[in-house]
Amino acid sequence: MSAETGRTIETTGAAHTEALGRAVGEVAEAGLYLALDGELGGGKTTFVRGLAAGLGAAARVASPTFVIMREYCGRLPLYHCDFYRLEHGGDIAELELDACLERGVVAAEWASLFEPPRGARVLAVHFEWTGDEARRVTMTAHCERTRKLLAGIKL
Ligand SMILES: Nc1ncnc2c1ncn2[C@@H]1O[C@H](COP(=O)(O)OP(=O)(O)OP(=O)(O)O)[C@@H](O)[C@H]1O
Ligand SMILES: [Mg+2]
Repeated sequence: MSAETGRTIETTGAAHTEALGRAVGEVAEAGLYLALDGELGGGKTTFVRGLAAGLGAAARVASPTFVIMREYCGRLPLYHCDFYRLEHGGDIAELELDACLERGVVAAEWASLFEPPRGARVLAVHFEWTGDEARRVTMTAHCERTRKLLAGIKL
């Protein structure tokens, strides 16, 4: 994979993964769809905590598992959702992800359970457990805009 479409970072603790999310939040623009996947406890919510901080949201991010979606107010609104529970009887249409993307950034945990909305600018982030405190985080751009965004992230 070329350097501009994918970047892999070995993080050495939760704070490191959070810093990665913050770096993405600092350059994020409306329409960005972060498709977060990987195992339980991989660091998806931890990453979103940093993302929210990078977008300038003051609130602490909690897991959206039991509410399906939470909104955070920063430089742009951040819509944090979790598709894990939706898979068991929820309706993704109710989230109105298209409208969310017009206004701000969507970060979806267990994203691969559903197709991203048409026209979403997808940056996929995959988390793998490589040790108690270590995670391999692979970010993959799915369009030209997210390729540029990925190239611009300061790590
Ligand atoms: N390098 C690391 N990156 C991220 N989290 C780490 C790291 N090392 C240890 N951790 C710990 O792993 C856990 C990650 O939990 P988190 O809720 O972010 O995962 P998740 O992918 O959202 O899980 P779930 O699938 O249950 O939603 C936290 O307890 C965090 O402190
Ligand atoms: Mg989570």
